[in-house]
Amino acid sequence: MLSSEIQTVQIQDFDFVPFISETEIHKRISEMAAEISKACEGEEILCLVMLKGAFVFAADLIRALDIPAEVSFIRYGSYIGEHSSGELQRYMPVEPGLMKNRHVLLIEDIVDTGLTLSKVLPELEEEQPKSLRVATLLHKPEVTEYDLDLDFIGFEIENKFVVGYGLDFDNKGRDLKAVYQMAGGE
Ligand code: XMP
Ligand code: MG
Repeated sequence: MLSSEIQTVQIQDFDFVPFISETEIHKRISEMAAEISKACEGEEILCLVMLKGAFVFAADLIRALDIPAEVSFIRYGSYIGEHSSGELQRYMPVEPGLMKNRHVLLIEDIVDTGLTLSKVLPELEEEQPKSLRVATLLHKPEVTEYDLDLDFIGFEIENKFVVGYGLDFDNKGRDLKAVYQMAGGE
């Protein structure tokens, strides 16, 4: 059997090819954790993990931090299949009062158009955190339509759909160890 790093993966009728390897992901996460630990030195941060996609990234990132971190979860949604539906749904909002006066790090899997964060960040600011920073594993700068302050970015990638390492295509592919990119045209 071929190594999983050079294998194409099929989800429904689409082929996905290896894009960012496990090794590259873990190297970059160590660097990000060092950046975050330095920027947040002396702070007790609250990591707010955006479900579902960010759970794998967050688990690795949080354990690589050199500063104490509490963890909580939120879940919003704007995606159906491959395309954004445009409507934000609130499946699991933040626990009331949890963020007040805390240094909060929002952990995201990917910023695409930026629609999700453009709606979620103002809602989180209403919770009156002492600070609110964003760490995202992936960013598609070419298609981001909103002016967002992304504090920590893992990889800037082109505008092609990706899965794996927590990211899904219709809830499939989250369990892949690396990030795969949809094969074929734009
Ligand atoms: P927006 O456009 O609001 O998108 O910035 C953010 C959310 O949409 C999902 N998303 C993706 N999921 N592969 C995925 O598996 C992708 O290429 C992709 N692009 C966007 C993701 O849930 C993200 O939080
Ligand atoms: Mg998703």
